[in-house]
Amino acid sequence: MKKPLLVANWKENKDLKEAKDWVLAVGPQIAKRNLKIIVCVPFPLIFPLFELIGQKKWQENLYLAAQDISRFEGGAYTGEVAAKMLSGVCQFCLVGHSERKKYFGESQEEVIAKIKILLTQNFTPILCLANFEQLDFYHKNFPSLGENKDLILVYEPPEAISGGGAYHPEDPKTSESKIQAIKEKFGTRFLVLYGGSVNPENILDFLARPSIDGALIGQASLEPQTFLELVDKAFSLI
Ligand code: PGA
Repeated sequence: MKKPLLVANWKENKDLKEAKDWVLAVGPQIAKRNLKIIVCVPFPLIFPLFELIGQKKWQENLYLAAQDISRFEGGAYTGEVAAKMLSGVCQFCLVGHSERKKYFGESQEEVIAKIKILLTQNFTPILCLANFEQLDFYHKNFPSLGENKDLILVYEPPEAISGGGAYHPEDPKTSESKIQAIKEKFGTRFLVLYGGSVNPENILDFLARPSIDGALIGQASLEPQTFLELVDKAFSLI
């Protein structure tokens, strides 16, 4: 059984103290077992958490990711954060999350522009796919990936995203067949994760399916104890 990739997505949650407490609770457990996870955190938390993770020497265990990025390289774009500003601090970035489309009207063309900038700045994009229409568009318009560039894909049906504390995941069998279709298009070189209402109770239903390489976890990543329970289950298979 291969090692699953777990990506926590805090969304618009946690102040600095809560974020540091999470890292201090989760970090030792992940480091002790020499596991690797990625945490997508809000912009203002990236630098202080980078320092904390560095002080604790957990850089090989806890990897930081941004949750979005400007589609511009830099300049007069008030409120935007350029990829180059995060260069050397984090190497992953979530892009195309369905909440960016739902609440901020992000278009597929903007997602491609963001991916181009991320690749130029040597980030690994974590690209979310909600459906086959997006899969076709992103695949057709994807910039060519050089030998040493990487990409992580997430299949996440928007209706499966948890809401109001309630979990309603997709049937893992359906997710598996969607993920197989994504792999047929993008190639088996890339990891494809499932996202949407993953929690400690259902994580193994997804990971037990060979084509699902890991999970993107929102709600169940917020509380360190719940997240560690999920980590325990996920890595109990290897
Ligand atoms: P959820 O969110 O685990 O709370 O459903 C996942 C995501 O949208 O990143």
